Formats: sequence, C-alpha cells, structure tokens
Amino acid sequence: MITSHSVEETAAAGSEYGRRAQIGDVFALTGDLGAGKTQFVKGFVAGVGSEAGVTSPTFTLIHEYPGGRCPVYHFDFYRLDSLGAVVRLGFDDYVQGDGICIIEWADRFPELLPESATWIALSATDETARTIGQTSRR
Ligand SMILES: Nc1ncnc2c1ncn2[C@@H]1O[C@H](COP(=O)(O)OP(=O)(O)OP(=O)(O)O)[C@@H](O)[C@H]1O
Ligand SMILES: [Mg+2]
Repeated sequence: MITSHSVEETAAAGSEYGRRAQIGDVFALTGDLGAGKTQFVKGFVAGVGSEAGVTSPTFTLIHEYPGGRCPVYHFDFYRLDSLGAVVRLGFDDYVQGDGICIIEWADRFPELLPESATWIALSATDETARTIGQTSRR
C-alpha cells in the first residue's frame, strides 16, 4: 500500500499499473466519492500509452480510450442501478475483448468481475492524502 499526497502522485500510481497492464487484464477500483479513482484512471490510461482525455463515464456509461498499446475501456458502476443494466451494456464482451478494462465502483457488482481481476482500493485519509493498495476483494 502507498500513500499519495497529491493528484499527481495518485495518477503516477495509476500510470505504474497502466505500464504493466496487458490485453485481457481487468482492474476493479473501489473507494468512496472523491477517493481519487478517476485521477488514478487518468494516470492508468497514460501508462497504457494513450493520450486520450479521461473523464467519468456518465451518459455513455463507458468510455473507450484508443491510441495506447491496446484499447482501455473505462466503466463507472456508480450510475448503473441494476445488474441487468451492466449486463445489457455488454460488459462481458468488453472483459473478454481486445483491451483492458478498468471499473470504478466495481464493488457494486462484484459478481460480474472475473476471478482474475486486480482489486485496488483507494481511500481518503485527509484532504489531500489517499491510500492506494491492492486488495483480495472479490
Ligand atoms: N492525493 C490525491 N489523489 C487524488 N485526488 C485527490 C488527492 N488529494 C485531493 N484530491 C482531490 O480529490 C478528488 C478526487 O476526485 P476523483 O474524481 O478522482 O474521485 P473518484 O474516486 O473518481 O470519485 P467518484 O466516486 O465521484 O467517481 C479531486 O477533486 C482531487 O482534486
Ligand atoms: Mg470517478
């Protein structure tokens, strides 16, 4: 586990994971509102080699970032109100597809995440400090 003291450090942690990520990998992010999940994804996508601008998927429910070693598919389960909604999104096809998936609020529907997923928990300990660490959660 590491402690980040800034947005930049959180993005750098994401970038480390992004650099090592490979096609087929799935990253499940957990943490409260404002914990830094989206900032982590920004670094992650850059680490995969994409220069695409990262924002939270809201209306479209999924964002795809091209231009890196492989596509990155960014989900946010916070706004999805049922398991059926995630399934209808074609979530499984993305997980089994040609890219890397990274999911904010993955613990809302953990049953949809593959066994192989890497779970990463972010947590705010004060205004600018965030702990970031892998967990065994599933
Ligand atoms: N060390 C830090 N790492 C990341 N974000 C930080 C840090 N310190 C302060 N912040 C602030 O915390 C907020 C994190 O926002 P972010 O959108 O990444 O959270 P989130 O976990 O994605 O929230 P949500 O559940 O709403 O999607 C930003 O406003 C950012 O400026
Ligand atoms: Mg977010």
